Amino acid sequence: SAMPVLTVDGPGGAGKGTVSRLIAERLGWHLLDSGALYRLTALAALKHGLALDDDMALASCAETLDVAFVAQDGDARIMLEGEDVTGDIRTEAVGDAASQVASLPRVRDALLTRQRDFRAAPGLVADGRDMGTVVFPQAELKIYLTASAEERARRRHEQLLNAGVDANLASLLEEIKARDARDMQRAVAPLKPADDAVLLDSTSLAIPDVVERIERLLSERG
Ligand code: C5P
Repeated sequence: SAMPVLTVDGPGGAGKGTVSRLIAERLGWHLLDSGALYRLTALAALKHGLALDDDMALASCAETLDVAFVAQDGDARIMLEGEDVTGDIRTEAVGDAASQVASLPRVRDALLTRQRDFRAAPGLVADGRDMGTVVFPQAELKIYLTASAEERARRRHEQLLNAGVDANLASLLEEIKARDARDMQRAVAPLKPADDAVLLDSTSLAIPDVVERIERLLSERG
């Protein structure tokens, strides 16, 4: 197909973000970080004082989200309502709020077209929870990337410390488990592998090895 899609789904902290970005860079494909859209919706809602269960207000917030993904000095910045929120949307508080708003069907619907619009030539790498199951069911290759909760907590801890953010490993592990449970148990678009997804466990695999495996699978399909 002229606009192939590679979907990379799985729980938070399995390495989806890094792996997706590296593959998109190497192939020169577009990148959709769908989690960022849920995080941006949550942050906008918090800024505007919306209740996190007010599905009508949150859906209209998601629909009218004023965001821009801009490249700046070789860096990808995310702007919300003209303000750089690249760091702000990565906090655990926003991640938690994102997972709450993401459980609302109206919010998911409101973000559907926006996500599909990322599909453009020469191809798209789409990173999220339901890329292969709901948003791009016709994707050429679907990856479901997991890792143990302990390993994911350890990685997130290291990431946060490197970013200069204070973090506690034990509470990160609790948060990861709670977020997994919420994402897997929600009624709409729960986190689960697509029937035709290739499962990869990154618990004891380094990022370059994961990238290499996916690129091999892609060239086999191409
Ligand atoms: O991947 P990330 O941690 O940025 O996603 C934040 C939250 O957004 C997830 O916990 C999940 O609840 C939600 N999400 C989703 N569907 C996606 C991507 C993210 O429900 N495709």
